[in-house]
Amino acid sequence: MASAHTGHRPDRPPPQWTIDIWANVNTSGAFNMPHVHGGSYWSCVYYVRAGEGEGGQLVLHDPRMPALRMHAPGLRFRDSGPDVRTEIEPKSGLMVLFPAWLLHSVEPWFGEGNRISVAMNIRAALARR
Ligand SMILES: [Fe+2]
Repeated sequence: MASAHTGHRPDRPPPQWTIDIWANVNTSGAFNMPHVHGGSYWSCVYYVRAGEGEGGQLVLHDPRMPALRMHAPGLRFRDSGPDVRTEIEPKSGLMVLFPAWLLHSVEPWFGEGNRISVAMNIRAALARR
């Protein structure tokens, strides 16, 4: 997925990916504050067990904030869409790839048992000439 969504200069080889991967095993009430993954090109999450219950959405925050609201909070760009955040509903088996610089968070999840996901930081090693 990372290679399919990454362009590179035609006179250079494609990047070689290094992946840091870890599991998240969360119980009811778990959440993640807004953050980015510095040093990575892509971030990725795979939902092993999304869990039954309420909440737990992955929230992707509009990188134009807070500039969007600084000068004219009542205005918006006509074709930019109304949302300053996008919520993704986790489903078991779903994989989401997003730019590592994109601010994101996880809403509190309330349910029974464990909620299991695998997160990845995907770093690009660029070949030198
Ligand atoms: Fe994250």
